[in-house]
Amino acid sequence: MERNEAARRIAELSRELETHNHRYYVLAAPVISDREFDELLKELERLERAFPDLASPNSPTQRVGGDITKGFPSVQHRYPMLSLGNTYSREEVADFVARVEKAVGPTRYSMELKYDGVAISLAYEGGELVRGVTRGDGEKGEDITANVRTIRSIPLRLQGDDWPASFEARGEVIFTKARFDALNAMREQEGEELYANPRNTAAGTLKQQDPKEVAKRGLTSFIYSLQSESLPTRSHFDNIMRCHAWGFNTPDPKRRFIERATDVEGIMAFIDHWEKHRHELEMIIDGIVVKVDNIDVQEELGLTAKSPRWAMAYKYAAEQALTRLLGVSFQVGRTGAVTPVAELDPVLLAGTTVKRASLFNADQLERLDLHEGDLVRVEKAGEIIPQVVGVELAQRAPQAMRVRFPHACPECGTALIRLEGEAQHYCPNEHGCPPQITRRIEHFVSRRALDIDGLGGETVEEFHRAGLIQDVADLYELTEPRILSLGKGWKEKSAQKILAGLEASKQVPFERVLFALGIRHVGETVAKKVAKGAGTMDRLMGMSQEELVALEEVGQVIAESIRDFLAVEGNRRIIERLKQHGLRMESDRAAQGPVGDRLQGLAFVVSGVFRNFSRDGIKEAIERNGGKVSGSISSKTSYVLAGADMGPAKRQKAEDLKVPVIDEDEFMRMIEG
Ligand code: IVH
Repeated sequence: MERNEAARRIAELSRELETHNHRYYVLAAPVISDREFDELLKELERLERAFPDLASPNSPTQRVGGDITKGFPSVQHRYPMLSLGNTYSREEVADFVARVEKAVGPTRYSMELKYDGVAISLAYEGGELVRGVTRGDGEKGEDITANVRTIRSIPLRLQGDDWPASFEARGEVIFTKARFDALNAMREQEGEELYANPRNTAAGTLKQQDPKEVAKRGLTSFIYSLQSESLPTRSHFDNIMRCHAWGFNTPDPKRRFIERATDVEGIMAFIDHWEKHRHELEMIIDGIVVKVDNIDVQEELGLTAKSPRWAMAYKYAAEQALTRLLGVSFQVGRTGAVTPVAELDPVLLAGTTVKRASLFNADQLERLDLHEGDLVRVEKAGEIIPQVVGVELAQRAPQAMRVRFPHACPECGTALIRLEGEAQHYCPNEHGCPPQITRRIEHFVSRRALDIDGLGGETVEEFHRAGLIQDVADLYELTEPRILSLGKGWKEKSAQKILAGLEASKQVPFERVLFALGIRHVGETVAKKVAKGAGTMDRLMGMSQEELVALEEVGQVIAESIRDFLAVEGNRRIIERLKQHGLRMESDRAAQGPVGDRLQGLAFVVSGVFRNFSRDGIKEAIERNGGKVSGSISSKTSYVLAGADMGPAKRQKAEDLKVPVIDEDEFMRMIEG
């Protein structure tokens, strides 16, 4: 393709992709499928690879994260980022209104949600995002532009044309509750410590040095103010609506996320509404903000030392409950991490009954200085995770004993260890500590790993207690008579179901086998990349630290964890036995095959079964070499790739349209050259 033509197509694709992105992430009203979106994105990526100087830093391809950032330069804010005066009292809100109106007379207010996240300032020049900066100390913040670009609800290029040539949009970067839960579910799978609350996790995520990691976490944003020498209107509310039209995610008046009022009653009605309904929101708010709407009036009122006189935050008190501590249990996880958990007298808190609360680790236990039978205060961290926040000391029985973190594993008695720089204690008895063994097996059979039908947590524990299984390889030595020997209601049918599930698991791809092993820090994504990069288990076993780090997604910590795991003789034996039992220890040939652009511009229709590839595998091989795959034969199809069992109707259609039909060997010659 010629350069001019490429530039034109790049501009067109970028525009289209940003529009679809906006429709998906801001308007929640997509008009194309994920697959179509990916195809457009891939085309853009290919063009940018071919003409690197035409790739803009605001290209939609940057949404997945660019290069590693080394440190975040400090930058001066053009307009300082102020904080807000805040209160928990409605009288003080009324006092605020009285104070304002005494100074400037009756005026209008804009009320909106106070999002519990991290403040961000976004600078735009000529309609393009040029900088994303943290609040810092209010005067200077850190330049985290590369990370900000990965937040899909932040426009890289604005829509419309009535924006100021230069301005800053300010807002809050947050995790939705659902996204935060999903993130923690993934952490659990990976054997990592769970995040305690969405706000701190959002702050930590924005400071990640790898924008790709930020992209994966799925942050979102809400814009709450506009700063410029040439604002479009003199009303704060109207400016926010303009921001919406330019492509920002802004509070929606139809959902009462923002509303105007001309008196205290109107403000109180807004406070009341969200007091009642805030738990139903998809994100966390810790209060509401009242602002004078007219910007001229704002300027007249001015600032105090660090906050404006024209705005005030009303905060909702975190809902708390008092309840009795029944005891503290110490739970041992798959990786041996020991977590203290408060067992509580059940109590209703913000809509759910709370019976237990994680105490996280020994440090937290010490900070709280819990004693047996204490009356404790419970809150939901970020409205999600129940947490013990304090003790009613006056209510403590004089003889009450302090709760201590054990020195030995509560399950197997082995002395606990604490790794340097980590808050967790571990039981090192990997192969002898019952909950570690059964949780590892449970992980192995779970849906995202080997997905073995009929085998759940309770069955695994039962089999382990009865001495049928000690490790994951033992699963494949189960037989019907051995399962039935357990008696206790075991029927042939359920035994057969398990055995059939185990048999079927031998077809599960290598990447999921690798994930199923439960190597610390190796979650689904990492397992996928490692499986692809190493190709086979044998090669993986022989790889050095440097070779591992060279793989996509793998850093020093992950590499070390893989090496440590594979160095343990017991683990090597298990892997060898799994291999003997026929589990897949090699990637699809497609994943190891060549990558390039030999198929650039060619469209394939795939049909039938192949020797060297799975169906998805062969499609992937086409795409990895720059070709396209489509579902049905048309005059635009370049080749029909036929495996065994291709239907006669398809063959006929190919003939009718004069589309050449090739077989797997010919295809291999095309990509291998
Ligand atoms: S206005 C000068 N509006 O709360 C006014 N702030 O203590 C600047 N926040 O750091 C802030 N939601 O990060 C404003 N709707 C909202 C907000 C909001 C959350 C945060 C903001 C700021 C802090 C103020």
